[in-house]
Amino acid sequence: MGRIIYLDHASTTPVDSRVLKKMKPYFTGLFANPATRWTSSISQKVDEAVEEARKNVAALINALPEEVIFTSGGTESDNAALKGVAFANRNRGNEIITTPIEHEAVLKVAERLQDFGFVIKYVPVDSEGFVDPDDVKKLITPKTILVSIMHANNEIGTIEPVREIGAVCRERGVFFHTDAVQTVAHIPVDVEQMNIDLLSLSSHKFYGPKGVGALYIRKDVQIVPYMDGGGQEQGFRSGTLNSTGIIGLGEAAKLGKEEQEERESCIKEFRDAFLKKILEEIPAVYLNGPNDDRRLPGNISIVIQGIRNEPLLVALNEKGIIAGGGSACSAGKKNPSHVLEAIGVPEEDLFSVIRITIGKDNKLEDIDFIVENIKEITNQLRALSPFWEE
Ligand SMILES: Cc1ncc(COP(=O)(O)O)c(C=O)c1O
Repeated sequence: MGRIIYLDHASTTPVDSRVLKKMKPYFTGLFANPATRWTSSISQKVDEAVEEARKNVAALINALPEEVIFTSGGTESDNAALKGVAFANRNRGNEIITTPIEHEAVLKVAERLQDFGFVIKYVPVDSEGFVDPDDVKKLITPKTILVSIMHANNEIGTIEPVREIGAVCRERGVFFHTDAVQTVAHIPVDVEQMNIDLLSLSSHKFYGPKGVGALYIRKDVQIVPYMDGGGQEQGFRSGTLNSTGIIGLGEAAKLGKEEQEERESCIKEFRDAFLKKILEEIPAVYLNGPNDDRRLPGNISIVIQGIRNEPLLVALNEKGIIAGGGSACSAGKKNPSHVLEAIGVPEEDLFSVIRITIGKDNKLEDIDFIVENIKEITNQLRALSPFWEE
């Protein structure tokens, strides 16, 4: 394999070598089950490392360690939050508010809850994907038990005003969950300042291993556990802990906290230079989502009119450039993206979107090479396209 320029970090990130180094001893020598810490010294060591990871994850989002429950990732955390709050608060009401641009890990859970008598209300988003906190306020009724609105959108990078939304929820006595899978370790996240009651995060989005994540549950929030068994994780999530993965997540969280500002500024520099160049070099290209500080530092979602994204992505891959289409999180989907539809991208542009998501190791000096390749392939595809006229 030749040189690869990886630009799909919203889909997943490589494990940082420092994270891997931290994890290694826990695959073999320190393999014991942390639950047997009272009788085994190896278990005790593993348990200590797991608790250190919990502290690191908690510190990253300004929570208490005992408010952090380890899960298998963002999808599980979202499931646990929505189903857990819904079933624990059924006696208070049956309405849940969310948005049409959530990840499937929230949208499909909300749909499922309808089968159990819950009513789902969708707050609209504007043409850049923003929710207006006043619209959330208007939808809340005495029957509302939960609001679930993502911190930032995985496709178009829009950062929602979660602090204001959280304040509305708190004022009305409604629990507030946010899917922060795309923001944790990328931009500051503070559950206290942002009035958050439950928060989902996923290790593989910030240089940790796949298959591990966490759910923050504020001390006073009741949820019904949906994984019953041995009672691990304070009874919220039974099952032998994925200790090696958790220790990797903890290290990624520690590094994420230490390096967040520096990473953010380098990534933003790449994003802004890249966007400027591509808009200058290729005609009929436009950005989805906002073009200001309310956008994720590493996200560029653009429509390249007159082409379809798959042949472009395949041709870029041939050149060693890996970018994304709409969302990579729902494998093999052929339907148009629900996010792009919700923000009103015209029908003819829905399959012309590419998503470039930048990581901490991308190099500014690669921008010319990337844009030149996109330009060349776009020109070839447009020349063949019956829908494209110069
Ligand atoms: C916003 C958002 N939520 C949830 C998920 C699912 O996370 P995981 O892959 O850890 O299950 C993803 C990505 O895949 C995501 O981008």
